[in-house]
Amino acid sequence: MPRDPRYDVLFEPVQIGPLTAKNRFYQVPHCTGMGWLRPNMLAAMRGVKAEGGWGVVNTEYCSIHPSSDDLPYPYASLWDPSDVTAHAKMTGNVHEHGALAGVELWHGGSRSSNQFSRDVSIGAASLPSASGVPFQSRAMDRQDIADLRQWHRDAALRARDAEFDLVYVYATHGYLLSHFLSAQTNQRTDEYGGNLRNRTRLCRELIEETRQAVGDSCAVAVRFAVDGLSNDNESRDMFSLMAEMPDLWDITVNDYSHEMGVSRFVGEASLEPLMSFVKSATTKPVVSVGRFTSPDTMVSYIKRGISDFIGAARPSIADPFLPNKIADGRPEDIRECIGCNICYAGDSLGVPIRCTQNPTMGEEWRKGWHPENINTKQSGDKILVVGAGPAGLECARALGQRGYEVMLSEARRELGGRVTLEARLPGLSEWVRVRDYRTQQLQTMANVEIYPESELSADDVALVEPDHVVIATGSNWRSDGLGRSNTAGISGLQAPSQVFTPDDIMAGRLPEGRVLVFDDDSYYMAAVIAELLQATASGVTYVTPENLVASFGAETAEQHGTQRRLMELGVDLILAHNLDGFDGSEAVLKCSYTDRSRTVPADAVVMVTARSPNETLYRELRVKRSQGAAGSLKSIRRIGDCEAPAIIASAVYAGHRYAREFDDPDADKSCTRRDRPEA
Ligand SMILES: Cc1cc2nc3c(=O)[nH]c(=O)nc-3n(C[C@H](O)[C@H](O)[C@H](O)COP(=O)(O)O)c2cc1C
Ligand code: SF4
Repeated sequence: MPRDPRYDVLFEPVQIGPLTAKNRFYQVPHCTGMGWLRPNMLAAMRGVKAEGGWGVVNTEYCSIHPSSDDLPYPYASLWDPSDVTAHAKMTGNVHEHGALAGVELWHGGSRSSNQFSRDVSIGAASLPSASGVPFQSRAMDRQDIADLRQWHRDAALRARDAEFDLVYVYATHGYLLSHFLSAQTNQRTDEYGGNLRNRTRLCRELIEETRQAVGDSCAVAVRFAVDGLSNDNESRDMFSLMAEMPDLWDITVNDYSHEMGVSRFVGEASLEPLMSFVKSATTKPVVSVGRFTSPDTMVSYIKRGISDFIGAARPSIADPFLPNKIADGRPEDIRECIGCNICYAGDSLGVPIRCTQNPTMGEEWRKGWHPENINTKQSGDKILVVGAGPAGLECARALGQRGYEVMLSEARRELGGRVTLEARLPGLSEWVRVRDYRTQQLQTMANVEIYPESELSADDVALVEPDHVVIATGSNWRSDGLGRSNTAGISGLQAPSQVFTPDDIMAGRLPEGRVLVFDDDSYYMAAVIAELLQATASGVTYVTPENLVASFGAETAEQHGTQRRLMELGVDLILAHNLDGFDGSEAVLKCSYTDRSRTVPADAVVMVTARSPNETLYRELRVKRSQGAAGSLKSIRRIGDCEAPAIIASAVYAGHRYAREFDDPDADKSCTRRDRPEA
């Protein structure tokens, strides 16, 4: 299909200093849980982004010197020649597709706790590490500043040797330079502290010295937050002081939970009010972010002069081929980011990146998975997929893409399973994109037939006579309290008719009176249910055995926002307490530390604890097959929540993996291909 001319502006080349980006699609720096530890995985993943049409592809934060290391978070590094070799793999892959490669040179300052190098952290001042470990930095003296400038220059030279095109000066996100810029953290009395000019001195020196180091072979970019210093005018004044210095401005805001906010709290293009002044304050090209997935929003940003580039981290993770899909006139094929931040959890947990929407993310090298291409079918076998939730939909889609004849049956009228149901809960509406992308793709496949409102028994399956059956029937929330804190369930539940589960809530069966939501799951579900019920019930008490509301949300950078939301709504929070009993009017709680009991009034309890896989069909079919009563059925597999309940990303991955490995004797089923740094 030809490109819609409305989107032509997105494909205009843009000059960045001595270089030209081929279009306006700009993958901003984002970490991957790979860093220097997994160079081949990283290079392959960035190469796929370039192949997908991104005009600029950046690294993650890249340490310039051992005095700034961030383990257990896997950062990149440019400390020595071995790093140059590793990065050259990435730049080579990026250049192969005509894109520019950028590196975000980074020094964490007081925020680096140097757990790996064990060097004492240095910073604008002697400050406790913001990462929560009991270490404090040393305030940099003049020699330290001179050393830092030298390290930055040396790293810039190594970046040039690794054939990077853009070299960043990283001046935000609470790292070293932002502490120099802020009057709060910079109370120095030397020429690097005090007035605005002094506080920007180090940043200005690094911009100039980076340029001197790399000469005309590279452009110099600065990542800068335009708000959140002592006052907004100060950020603007600072910006004006440096406005013409770099070749490109990469603009963010100081509040990471806004810049990278989950879709529960932050929508598309939300930075605009804070950064729209930037273009009028500089002649240099500007990039900014905003979880852009709509080409119309992108065009509007460019045409209204808000920015020159469409910066993207998450949209490029969810769909590395987003630019090409717009270029090819098929924007409906874009796999839109849902704003869940599971990608970020990879880095927070120190493991390779994963994505809810894009099951191939992070698997480009290890498994050889490509986000758009898949090997064609190896046989004429017919496959029945039972259940059209995230696992079943992705399984049917990917098998269909391979060319297999697929039947997809779903008990409900609507496809999507848990995704459709959960997307109706407060703030989760964008999650329906997991369903919509897949149903839209399935509708184009003549070899996939979809049967909604078709609950199948084992006899029905035998009658259909597939060669293979994949059971993706999901799971149901338990009402007996069994979960992480109560591995045998909660024995003191005496009023079962007043005990609800998330399945009841999602089906519209809402409790009345005073409701206690018991969260032993610790992700989003209990919090969004508490939010929903606060509007309908006569008061909600949220109880968790953990010390924080929805504690897993710390990994997806939403915990703070979740707890704040419940507090603002007036939900009663009782932390560090387990649920011990419920008699229909009172709940008994036990302190997680002391075992002391207390009671709280409650007319109903919503139990958000664990789920039971819906595996009846799987088990019945296995019995039938063992009795020789399942026709010529060659295999029966269960996938996703039906095998082991988990997050949506795991269900999508399971569906994709089944389709990839089906009929493929060479598939690396046990993940034996391990990446490692080369000495
Ligand atoms: C997984 C992940 C890792 C990130 N790592 C970095 C990083 O290393 N350096 C950085 O400056 N920003 C980082 N960010 C922030 C992004 O650059 C970007 O500003 C933010 O995600 C908002 O853009 P988006 O809405 O397009 O995702 C990261 C974001 C994500 C999602
Ligand atoms: S994990 Fe979620 S937020 Fe991250 S890119 Fe994928 S869909 Fe978007």
